[in-house]
Amino acid sequence: MVEKSLSICVVGGTGAEGSGLALRWAQAGHKVTIGSRDVSKAQSVAGELNAILGKDLVVGVDSKAGSSSADIVVLTVPFKAQLSTVELLRDELAGKILIDVTVPLVPPKVSQVQLPDHGSCVVGVQQKLGSKTRVVSAFQNVSAHKLKDLKVEIDCDVLVAADDPEARATGISLAKDASLRGIDVGPLANSVVAESMTSVLIGINRKYKVPDAGIRITGVGVA
Ligand SMILES: NC(=O)c1ccc[n+]([C@@H]2O[C@H](COP(=O)([O-])OP(=O)(O)OC[C@H]3O[C@@H](n4cnc5c(N)ncnc54)[C@H](OP(=O)(O)O)[C@@H]3O)[C@@H](O)[C@H]2O)c1
Repeated sequence: MVEKSLSICVVGGTGAEGSGLALRWAQAGHKVTIGSRDVSKAQSVAGELNAILGKDLVVGVDSKAGSSSADIVVLTVPFKAQLSTVELLRDELAGKILIDVTVPLVPPKVSQVQLPDHGSCVVGVQQKLGSKTRVVSAFQNVSAHKLKDLKVEIDCDVLVAADDPEARATGISLAKDASLRGIDVGPLANSVVAESMTSVLIGINRKYKVPDAGIRITGVGVA
């Protein structure tokens, strides 16, 4: 169990990636809500996660209400919805840490790196929200389906980038609470590496006919 239980709202947690992270953080002892545009959808996914956990730990909420009451907000929505979602939650996110998991995938060529013109899509979120919200980039390279299996030890590191060192440390700590190894990769601009890597991993999955290629940073020992 975690030393300090945080309240975490996973916006877009009705999807594959967010629900997997929510499951692991709830199991670790955090107070987790699933944020959605549709409360009944969020409640339904929360029910599925609670069935896996064997306890009613996760609660489904509207994204605005969930973000408002959380210590930490995690964004797990498709790239096309990233900026509009944070714009909608701007007031709720002020004074908080936002962990952005978004990968700038542009269908149909999802195995080709297609970063926005300004570089990292997560940097675009920090620019949109301004300094009142400390944005962290993390978890882009972790495949959703393994997150959902609590017995699986996931063979993938988490590159954690943020301009604010304390926020970055929080991201690394949340990686640990999801039974992953977070690696401090410095400022938010370095998020381009994780954002690009996901397309490369999707290509590797296709080429080698594997479900979830991941990344490991060697030479740093156990973080
Ligand atoms: N899937 C993976 O293996 C994986 C791995 C690493 C990173 N990622 C990244 O994590 C993010 C989430 O991935 P995912 O596979 O979980 O995505 P997803 O299932 O397609 O979407 C997640 C949630 O986002 C919300 N959403 C969808 N379209 C929206 C729109 N147009 N406007 C506002 N909200 C919308 C929906 O929530 P509500 O309808 O409940 O509001 C949906 O359940 C993506 O950026 C993805 O690239 C995914």
